[in-house]
This record gives sequence, C-alpha cells and structure tokens, in this order.
Amino acid sequence: MNFEIYTKLSYGVYVITSSLNEKMYGCVANCAMQITDQPSTIAISMNHNNETHKAISESGYFAINVLQENIDPSFIGVFGFSSSKDKDKFKDFEYEMKDHVPVLKQTLGYLTLKVINTMETPTHTVFLGEVIDGDVFHSSTPMTYKYYHEVIKGKSPKNAPTHIVDENVSTKEQWVCSICGYVYDGEIPFEQLPDDYKCPLCLQPKEVFEKR
Ligand SMILES: Cc1cc2nc3c(=O)[nH]c(=O)nc-3n(C[C@H](O)[C@H](O)[C@H](O)COP(=O)(O)O)c2cc1C
Repeated sequence: MNFEIYTKLSYGVYVITSSLNEKMYGCVANCAMQITDQPSTIAISMNHNNETHKAISESGYFAINVLQENIDPSFIGVFGFSSSKDKDKFKDFEYEMKDHVPVLKQTLGYLTLKVINTMETPTHTVFLGEVIDGDVFHSSTPMTYKYYHEVIKGKSPKNAPTHIVDENVSTKEQWVCSICGYVYDGEIPFEQLPDDYKCPLCLQPKEVFEKR
C-alpha cells in the first residue's frame, strides 16, 4: 500500500456546531461532502469521543461553518484542539442561533442541517444531514485541507478521520507545540523569541513547546 495516495484526496476545513440543552458545542472537521442536491444532503464524519458527536446525536441538528484561508487561526486552536466538555468554545467568537444551532459569523458562511440518517464505523459516525438553510457572510477563499497543512502548517489530532502520512517524522531538531503539533519555523531561533510568544495556531504559551 502506498499511503501517499491518502494525501491526494481533497477536503475543506469546517467548524461543525450543534447545541443541546442550551449548551453549545463545536469542533473542527475536514470530512464533509455533499451527497445529492435533490434534496440537498451533506454527510459529515464525527468521532465518537467528540463532545460535538453527543450534541448532534441527541439534538438531531448541526451546522457546517466554512472556514476561509484568512480566518483567525484561534478558531482552529479552540475548536480543533480542545474539548467542549468543560469549556465555552464560543465565548470569544460572534455567533447567532439559526435552526437550533449556533452559526459562527466570522466564518465564510454556513449551512444548517437536520440529521436524516446515520452510519457507524468503529471510530466515527457518518451523519447524513438534509440542508435547512445557508448563507455566505464574507467573500473570501475557502480553506482547503491542503492549505491548512502546507501554509498554516497545521496538524491533525487523533480524532480526525483522515490518515496521517509521516506528519511527525523529521530528521532535524524542531520546536513543536505539545498541544496542537504546530512546528515553529520562524527566522528567529526559538530560544530567542519573547517570553510572551504564543503558538499561532492554538494560542498556548511558549512553555508548551518541546524540542523534538
Ligand atoms: C484540521 C482538523 C480536522 C479535523 N477533522 C475532524 C473530522 O473530520 N471529524 C472529527 O470527528 N474530528 C475532527 N477533528 C478533531 C476535532 O476537531 C477535535 O477532536 C475536537 O477537539 C473535538 O472537540 P469536541 O470534543 O468539543 O467536540 C479535526 C481537527 C482538526 C484540527
């Protein structure tokens, strides 16, 4: 098997949101695809351990918020590398409730969906949603998963469904964020960065970086 073939599949980058008992949930997902247009139906793949999975299963509604290339990277840090369990992920972001779910207003736009079917795998549930509504907030370029990896230098945590090809293997010594896996590649040597330097992706302090 040539695992490189996995890197030839194309995806976007989204924040999937939902709500349950007046609490809001959300996580980053790259796995979302339109299945048919009559009626408009989209599938997402959600890890069983994600809190957002519980909210979608029990409420039956979710939104797909489309991220753009120039989105504030803290969206990915907050929604992709922390759990909704003991955190209000929405407190620093603008949102409004649409069709029972929060939609994030700083993203490129959204679709709201009602779950009409599910399919199980050992790790992930595929939620099939029928589109209720959608809108575009900003005219900018949608972020692809390739852009996320190659330009933002983002990594995928273990709950992402996509295969990771040697992402963490490097022959040279690197400073790596222990929270999100971001690899520092700035011109200033890492040790000389100011004490208040933060990971540009997950916004954690300099101390969480490890030399690997
Ligand atoms: C780039 C990226 C892509 C991801 N794709 C998915 C995905 O498609 N499905 C999934 O279940 N988790 C995915 N994740 C992982 C979740 O976003 C992550 O586990 C999150 O912390 C779950 O939050 P929650 O427990 O509040 O739901 C992805 C994360 C990143 C950073």
